[in-house]
Amino acid sequence: MIGAPQPRVDGRAKVTGTAKYAYEEPVPSALCAVMVTSTIAAGRVSAIDTSDTRGVPGLVAILTHENAPRVDGDAAGAHTATGQSDRKLKVLQTPDVFYDRQPVALVVADTFEHAIDAAARVRVTYEKAPVAATMESPGAVEYTPQTANQNPPDTTRGDFDAAFSSAPIKLDNLYVTPTEFHNPMEPHAVLAAWSGDRLTMYDASQGVFSRRSSLAKILGIPESNIRVVAKFIGGGFGSKGGINPHHVLAAIAAKVVNRPVKLALTRPQMFGGHGNRPRTEQRIRVAADRSGKLLALAHDSRSQASRYDDFIENTAVISRMLYAVDNQITTHRGVRHDVVTPTYMRAPGESSGSFALESAMDELAYAVSLDPLQLRLLNYADSDPEEKKPWSSKSLRACYDQAAARFGWSRRTPEPRSMHTSDGLLVGYGMATATYPSNRSSASAQATLHGDGTAFVTSGGVDIGTGAYTAFTQVAAEALGMPVERVRFDLGDTTMPPAPQAGGSQLTASVANAVHEAGMDMRKRIAALATADASSPLHGRSFDELGFANGRAFVRAHPSTGEAYVDIVRRSGNGTLTARADVQHDRRQKGPYSSHAFGAHFVEVHVDPDFGTVRLARMVSAFAAGRIVNARTARSQFMGGAVWGVSMALHEEGRIDERTGRYMNANLENYLVPVNADIPSVEIIIVDEHDERVNPLGIKGIGEIGNVGSAAAVANAVYHATGKRVRDLPITPEKLLA
Ligand code: MOS
Repeated sequence: MIGAPQPRVDGRAKVTGTAKYAYEEPVPSALCAVMVTSTIAAGRVSAIDTSDTRGVPGLVAILTHENAPRVDGDAAGAHTATGQSDRKLKVLQTPDVFYDRQPVALVVADTFEHAIDAAARVRVTYEKAPVAATMESPGAVEYTPQTANQNPPDTTRGDFDAAFSSAPIKLDNLYVTPTEFHNPMEPHAVLAAWSGDRLTMYDASQGVFSRRSSLAKILGIPESNIRVVAKFIGGGFGSKGGINPHHVLAAIAAKVVNRPVKLALTRPQMFGGHGNRPRTEQRIRVAADRSGKLLALAHDSRSQASRYDDFIENTAVISRMLYAVDNQITTHRGVRHDVVTPTYMRAPGESSGSFALESAMDELAYAVSLDPLQLRLLNYADSDPEEKKPWSSKSLRACYDQAAARFGWSRRTPEPRSMHTSDGLLVGYGMATATYPSNRSSASAQATLHGDGTAFVTSGGVDIGTGAYTAFTQVAAEALGMPVERVRFDLGDTTMPPAPQAGGSQLTASVANAVHEAGMDMRKRIAALATADASSPLHGRSFDELGFANGRAFVRAHPSTGEAYVDIVRRSGNGTLTARADVQHDRRQKGPYSSHAFGAHFVEVHVDPDFGTVRLARMVSAFAAGRIVNARTARSQFMGGAVWGVSMALHEEGRIDERTGRYMNANLENYLVPVNADIPSVEIIIVDEHDERVNPLGIKGIGEIGNVGSAAAVANAVYHATGKRVRDLPITPEKLLA
């Protein structure tokens, strides 16, 4: 059952609209809240005039910094490895404005329409401060962070300077990625309901337990007084991981008005307070001998940072492990200016970092006149060069081989501008490598067998749209030895056994191993009940003799000797049987092996030589990520990530107004993402890989890797087509024609 392309168990609920998202929870008497957000990026609110809201029907309350209850935003420590002040969460506490679209008031009314009408009538006057809008603006300050997303910011090995200066082939280039914004189909939404001093929060969240813990700290109440529920999520991509301003606003507003309050962000507000993927400026220095063998690699990343909190992407970390190179430097610097604190966005670090590294590798291939794929194979890392450990498994060669064969890479002629379509477009073939670390955290699961022959299994992780309900149902069915149709899996509630966030590609590996252990524990309980009872055909048998399948325990040597679970469960005191597993795993703890998923993208683009327009023609991507739990939903995950890389290469860019520090394209009409017509063909190859070392079930995680390397593969194809190297994304016609 594990691995089967099982259709989504929640598919019917989703397509028929019976799946309830946070904003749709039918909580009686819930009011609607709408945020008023700042129209400046630095300064302070000097006055708030609400007189024009008089007469708006159904208006219940307007919260501002002058009347909002006090909360302790610092306490949550959302991103604050350094304990720096987290002003993002100190909502409505002072008149200060630190970033564009910061909430400055909250309007609560009986309907969404009344709330949005009143919000538009709130007149906010500001005292503007001089704004440092970009990393280059006067007033922007570079600093050395204490961590790069929990990695050491700087590393060295060998002697980079000596190796680089004496090398025959050297490249030194700057690669730039723009600020990018998560825009899940479901904007951030929350419904907060108090009952006395107990808070229930229905939330579009990637992790209910971490949300509960942050809320408890900010609101100053015990975790046991908070329940967070997240049943269906319309995408998160990192933006629904950490706690954000709207969570705090909904919780305090519901307290003030003494009614449940729901709050959803508008699409333009999705470019505001929860953060974004930071702009990066990455200098790559790479040196090789004339054959292309790497001698030295330096990856120095500067990235966008806020003035009031620390979040620095691990942009250069991918360069520490992807290729065999002895002499290396990696550094991370933040540049503080007047922007919101950035946050996790799908493959945070690896996504931006792989664009720089894999573009530089492509440039090196041309510099030594070697095929880009051959260059990767020449510098293949047979063990982790940073941790100096063997890989728990690595099937990157198979990914290269299978994807290259399927793509027809051998048809590529090496010279730029050497391939054309029959109607005169330039054709480019490009490739790049993908990798993402295999993470896992502590998780628990509980399974109950009922007298009617069904099982109910729970763990409090969330399904952010990826297929977790389905994957965990499959794992539970296999572990319990039951048909999938008789197993129901529920998730997304802090009343359930704890599970980590759906982030860092870790949820499946974490929860599946806990579900598996709960199933193994259940088998022991089934065996104990049956073998101890003289009326059971299994009486007197040892556990090791037994098999468990199709809702039945049996003697493996004589499969006809056995008993159905329904009959065994009847012997228990209350007619049900419950098993539980609590699997401890410290995500940061390093074992004897280094574990990563790997992959490769191969891309064909067509470029109009007169207009500089780039069209993706096709893409073939192969991934090896240990055991795949569901071949169908996994393919969707990989494909979504690969397509996002195309988007990163050709479409996405948050454009900031240098005079005001405001994002100018804060809506989907101007913030470009690909539509179906932009993505004619994406083929996903899942490479078979068995890894008995990474974790008991051999699952590496697949959520982010599709997004790694895919932008570089497109950029490399554009260079092959045009002979023009664009090192700052996105690749637009004007850059190609410049
Ligand atoms: Mo993912 S950006 O770790 O939610």
